[in-house]
Amino acid sequence: MLAAKAHWLTTASCSLMAAFTVMATAPPRRPGGASDNGHAELKRHVEELTTRVRALGDLSSDEQQAAMTAIAGALDEKLRTQNDWEERALYPIIDARTTCAGVAMSAVMKIEHARMAQSLDVLSELARAPAPDARRFSQVFERLVGLLLGHLEVEDRALLPLLEPDPGAARGSPPGEVCTRSKQGEVRP
Ligand SMILES: [Fe+2]
Repeated sequence: MLAAKAHWLTTASCSLMAAFTVMATAPPRRPGGASDNGHAELKRHVEELTTRVRALGDLSSDEQQAAMTAIAGALDEKLRTQNDWEERALYPIIDARTTCAGVAMSAVMKIEHARMAQSLDVLSELARAPAPDARRFSQVFERLVGLLLGHLEVEDRALLPLLEPDPGAARGSPPGEVCTRSKQGEVRP
């Protein structure tokens, strides 16, 4: 009788813990309330800006400077807001659920965010320069967009699926566990 009660209590507490794990790791919503991860909107925004950057050569020097200032400002606001939100709201959840080889899954993503921030700084500097250099501005912009699109692809395919309520279930892992280090220090995928 006592053993049966203990078994029931253990089962009930495990179920509760699993439920809390799922609740705690449910994908957070963006500050604006959108239920998606913001990538589609960001890609649309970048596409519009790319069209404007590729038309810089048709503008006068004064027009170029105004356009470069507007483009750098618009991209800066959108991209930093998205990256800050990911680092505050998404990556901590992913890192808490993935302890593969003791390395945070978001580490490379954060390095890429930092590289994007450096490129945004360069774009702002180029837009503020007394003599606009539209060619250099376009090069830095295109490189940044290349980095960003590859980055979003990795997040979409490899990282964000880890925010699903229980990605480990399909492979028989305990709730909330995607991979762990075994007692011998070997990684179990
Ligand atoms: Fe990101």
